[in-house]
Amino acid sequence: MKFVLASHNQNKLKELREILGALGIEIVLQSELGLDLEPEETGETFEENSLIKAKAVMEASGLPAIADDSGLCVDKLGGGPGVYSARYGGPELTDPQRCQLILQTMQGQFPRTCKFVCVVTCCFPDGKVLTARGECPGTVAFTPMGSDGFGYDPIFFVPKLKKTFAQLSAEEKNAVSHRGNALRAFAGELEAYLKENM
Ligand code: IMP
Repeated sequence: MKFVLASHNQNKLKELREILGALGIEIVLQSELGLDLEPEETGETFEENSLIKAKAVMEASGLPAIADDSGLCVDKLGGGPGVYSARYGGPELTDPQRCQLILQTMQGQFPRTCKFVCVVTCCFPDGKVLTARGECPGTVAFTPMGSDGFGYDPIFFVPKLKKTFAQLSAEEKNAVSHRGNALRAFAGELEAYLKENM
């Protein structure tokens, strides 16, 4: 069975192929099918936004489509920036500037608990929808640490590893990350679905 990933990101494709590889399915990027649509993420939850993306690409391609939506949720910021993580502080900010903005906003604030959340949704042409959520608990660091990764990785401190996401190798991060957890949960759901329907 062929699936399309609602993304242009080669890294996400690689990660998905590694985790879903054992299921014997084919996954292609939407750009490989000539689809350059980028639906507006108008939802207020990760579930809504990943559904918007997966549904749009399923309808445009006629194939089962997989999408994810993720973000950083800081308790002291009422769960923000949450679904607005990519645009926090305005579209012109760089990732390091967004990290600085979180650190400034969190100055003197306790507790510094937060979590990364990722929701993966798969829409099938027959209307079936599979959804899986993964989370990773952490705290907002006091200063950026580490140089790997992207986004908020340098300020996301994982207490049990005593390191930020930006201080972990890709494998170490995948083993505990919100995206790794969501994809592993999704793999289980998809396996059960394929067993019932193939
Ligand atoms: P999206 O799910 O591709 O829309 O990404 C949402 C935003 O959340 C990204 O632009 C990052 O700012 C942030 N984010 C999501 N996952 C991670 C992660 O693993 N590390 C760092 N930042 C992340």
